[in-house]
Amino acid sequence: MEDTIHHAHPVAVRKAVEANAPPPELTLEDMASPSARVVALTTRPDAVVPGFAREPAHAGPGSRWVALMLPGGGACVAAALVEPAESSGFRADSTLDEAALRHSITISRMYVEPSYSGLDLAPMLAYLALRRGRLQQRTNAVAYMSDAGRALADLLDLRVLPELPSRRGQFARCQRLDIAIHRAYRAAGPRGQAVLRQGFIDEAVETLQQLVTPLLSTPYFMAVDDGTLSREQYIYSLSNLHQFVRWTTRLLGRAVSLSDDPELRGHFLNHLGGEVNHEVIIENDLAALGADVDVDYVVHAMVPNLGTQEFMVVQESLIGFHEDPVLFMAAPFAAEGFAANVTMRFITGLTACAKKWGVANPKKAVTFFASHVHFDGGDDGHWALTRDILAKNLPDDMRLQQFLNAVRLAMNGFIHCYASYVDELGIWTATPTAARD
Ligand SMILES: [Fe+2]
Repeated sequence: MEDTIHHAHPVAVRKAVEANAPPPELTLEDMASPSARVVALTTRPDAVVPGFAREPAHAGPGSRWVALMLPGGGACVAAALVEPAESSGFRADSTLDEAALRHSITISRMYVEPSYSGLDLAPMLAYLALRRGRLQQRTNAVAYMSDAGRALADLLDLRVLPELPSRRGQFARCQRLDIAIHRAYRAAGPRGQAVLRQGFIDEAVETLQQLVTPLLSTPYFMAVDDGTLSREQYIYSLSNLHQFVRWTTRLLGRAVSLSDDPELRGHFLNHLGGEVNHEVIIENDLAALGADVDVDYVVHAMVPNLGTQEFMVVQESLIGFHEDPVLFMAAPFAAEGFAANVTMRFITGLTACAKKWGVANPKKAVTFFASHVHFDGGDDGHWALTRDILAKNLPDDMRLQQFLNAVRLAMNGFIHCYASYVDELGIWTATPTAARD
């Protein structure tokens, strides 16, 4: 090994040393309005990245500042402004309407501390700005840029949009966000990427959190909250949940067998142990709802509805076809985020509904949900462990993107199935709109 290094080309040696050197300590920040440290950098003319700083310095709704800071409350060394294109200066300059711009973000200002020499900050800053666009599910990045910004335009392959008007020597440029962020990540180099990886889990968590609100706003959680969930809707939900809960241990068993990393394998083994016979809890809840519930049908003959199967195929594809235990973790990750946000209020509401339906022992009919929510907000460190394992198993931006997709797919499945449990059974509690003659 030593011999190889000794005889290698000097550039290769330097690259190998750079790749192995610890990344400089920098923290990533993403904020709705610029902090004092960001303002300190953005008011310095020598920090402007040439090409696309624009005046005046007001930011529209939904705008975010992204920044790289020195650790321990140190100075801001790079900052950029990211905005939804339809509420940015790009809209006025381009004369495009909202419909044309709503899938795009614009980066209108960038600042880099000129005396900082640890890393090339521009691609890292571009990555952070584009990441904000990814979180907003935008597909394109646009910017008005002059020739002075050519280096960055080339780095991200921002192409001129020839149909759009030029403005004070600046031209509208555009690139697909996925391509631009790929190029920014690649250009950041091994040490810059090590800094950017610190933000991977935060992006996954924010992606998940964005979808928790729509999930808890589905008619199912609303109906439990206002006491209007019907017995038929509840039976329909438990019956459908049974369709996938009964496969959980087998899916986790597959994840165990496909995990080469002992820590990952241990995580799935532990999870598997905690899921044994959870479908039986559902069967007991169904039985507690009344003698007319055909539990045998649910267990042996029922097929899930489409919303439910939408969730199922996500996890089945990731572990069954792709045999990818890390991406498969997106399903429990989504379920955890969901469980952590369902509160005691939901269980109390559900129990009150069961009482209203005349169930003999309402508490016995809600044990599946009651055993799956974290009442005290504590989760025995499980969430921290999940984050830790993910951080070790998402080595680059492509893997992160795959995981983010999996989280969105799993959460969309949850949203569609919980909405369906109420929407599809509306007839059972419908009241006539007019009296019959
Ligand atoms: Fe469970």
